[in-house]
Amino acid sequence: MDEATASARIDSLRREIEAHAHRYYDLDAPSIPDAEYDRLFQELQALEEAFPALVRADSPTQRVLGAPLAELKPVRHAVPMLSIETERDTGEGAALRFDARVRRALELSEDDPPVEYAAELKFDGLAINLRYERGLLVQAATRGDGETGEDVTHTIRTIGPIPLRLRGVDAELVDVRGEVYMRRDAFERLNQQQLAAGQKAFVNPRNAAAGAVRQLDARIAAARPLSFFAYGVGEVRGWPLPDTHAGLLDALATAGVPVSDERRVVCGAAGLIAFHQRTAALRAALPFDIDGVVYKVNARALQQQLGFKSREPRWALAHKFPAEEAVTVLENIEVQIGRTGAVTPVARLKPVFVGGVTVTNATLHNEDELRRKDVRIGDSVIVRRAGDVIPEIVGVVPERRPANARLFEMPAQCPVCGSDVVRLEGEAASRCTGGLYCPAQVKGAIAHFAGRRAMDIDGLGDKLIEQLVERGLVRSVADLYGLDAGTLAGLERMADKSAANLAAAIAASRQTTLARFIYALGIRHVGEATAAALAAYFGDLDPLLQADVEALTAVPDVGPVVAQSIHGFCEQPHNREVIERLRAAGVHWPAVEVRRGAQPLAGKTFVITGTFSQSRDALTEALQRLGAKVTGSVSQKTDFVAIGENAGSKADKAAELGIATLDEAALLALLAQAGGE
Ligand code: IVH
Repeated sequence: MDEATASARIDSLRREIEAHAHRYYDLDAPSIPDAEYDRLFQELQALEEAFPALVRADSPTQRVLGAPLAELKPVRHAVPMLSIETERDTGEGAALRFDARVRRALELSEDDPPVEYAAELKFDGLAINLRYERGLLVQAATRGDGETGEDVTHTIRTIGPIPLRLRGVDAELVDVRGEVYMRRDAFERLNQQQLAAGQKAFVNPRNAAAGAVRQLDARIAAARPLSFFAYGVGEVRGWPLPDTHAGLLDALATAGVPVSDERRVVCGAAGLIAFHQRTAALRAALPFDIDGVVYKVNARALQQQLGFKSREPRWALAHKFPAEEAVTVLENIEVQIGRTGAVTPVARLKPVFVGGVTVTNATLHNEDELRRKDVRIGDSVIVRRAGDVIPEIVGVVPERRPANARLFEMPAQCPVCGSDVVRLEGEAASRCTGGLYCPAQVKGAIAHFAGRRAMDIDGLGDKLIEQLVERGLVRSVADLYGLDAGTLAGLERMADKSAANLAAAIAASRQTTLARFIYALGIRHVGEATAAALAAYFGDLDPLLQADVEALTAVPDVGPVVAQSIHGFCEQPHNREVIERLRAAGVHWPAVEVRRGAQPLAGKTFVITGTFSQSRDALTEALQRLGAKVTGSVSQKTDFVAIGENAGSKADKAAELGIATLDEAALLALLAQAGGE
């Protein structure tokens, strides 16, 4: 390729890449897949490598430049970067006082019309000045003390949404001012990467953004997904400015600089108050953090008239929201047992006002999380409560750790029922093993036990279970068999007839299958298929109860984690006791023919649908005895669908996915053949 052809192609690639970057960053509406964007980018890179003379500073390939710096150089701001007066009053007072002050300073009387304001978000990031000469980004600096900041051009250039060249602006000089921030989703992803790489998580998006901008090595900043919103200008030469602040932001947006859409021109104090309320309601749903709103007198002529009071303009006010983060002392860590037995550490805090409420507890999620954040009892911790989200501890203040700070240890026994607490391999949560017995888990355990695919007790719903447990009538599933129609009729919203029906359903559930019974126990990781495999392998309950982990692992489809879970459950005296009481109450099942020989159907997955001359349970057991897995829904993983009379959508699904189907005759033939091997 000759240089002229390369130059034309480079120009066209740059234009195309910039257009896609604009759609991606500013409009949130990419029109091509990322891979295609990468391809264009690589083509441009290759051409620029081949023709170094054609490389320009504003090329999209030139965002990361040069070797890491030794230090950040000071930059004196041509126009100081001021701060704004801040009000924390959460009510209407702040807006009323500000408007009154502005009107007084402008010598307006009651008869004059309301003042027009530009209302916008107060972004929670760090302030940056972007210097554009003849439309090209030549320097970026932090605010510093307002007079002198630091040169961070190398890291700011890596921020995709910041234009390296202004669109349609050839002015001698434009200082664009705004806030660099990190979106919350980008922050979460970054923290996951940090932890995966064995590094410390960042406390909040603002710190992560500030840390990235002040990196000496641009490549580190490039790997941190930052964003930018403009909110004003500094020194400007040769660029005629609009008459209003809102007009100025429009002009910046037209020049390709990101400007938030969440801004309004409003009238008087009432308009400010409405904007404040609207934004407070919107806050949690925004994809980035804000810490309040900013009001600015819209007309620039009036701004000039109002002027400054020491370091703050009289024409602007920051009206803050209640802080979402606060520091307090972690007084203790206790554990809570969830409905599924998960043991969650909970922080007991010295009461602290955060996010508009007083917080005394915060979740610590699990043991790993605690270790990662290195949270200790006695620490000063940063508590965050955003929107209606449950308060959480985002980190500790290491400088304030007292000498007697203590590490938390997961209790070995459940504080509610005394059963062992275990942590299964590969799981983040520790769990109480008292499944059937633990009062914290009992409602969930009963609902599972009574379920249609377990003991199938028709009419025993969540509301009833709630009443039975709360009135002390049922403390474990075994107590269900002691209930009579009279007792049940005494419950709320329970007519005699339904009480009698429920009593009959409970009685009928005594006759079950071993597979259903094992499933009904609600052992973690033991679903229907595993329960059936266990039933087929052990034939009865006692050999299962006595099996050690090794014996359990020999069962088809049971791996070490599942084996550990079953063993842990069966070992608990409390669970044994409940099982014994169930058997004593008459729960029974027909003997299962044990088969542990060859498993000719091992690895094959079946779905049974429709009506057969044998019960579906019997067919399931027969298939499982031969090593097959029987599941409830048809998917790509299904090998065969057995279709009986009146089969419905599952048969259609099988046809749609092209999965082999068997009618009853074919299924029985297959069972006979496999069983005879
Ligand atoms: S205007 C002369 N507008 O808040 C007025 N500032 O205390 C200059 N900030 O350091 C600032 N969002 O980093 C302005 N919409 C916004 C803002 C905003 C956040 C920050 C800014 C500045 C501080 C002012």
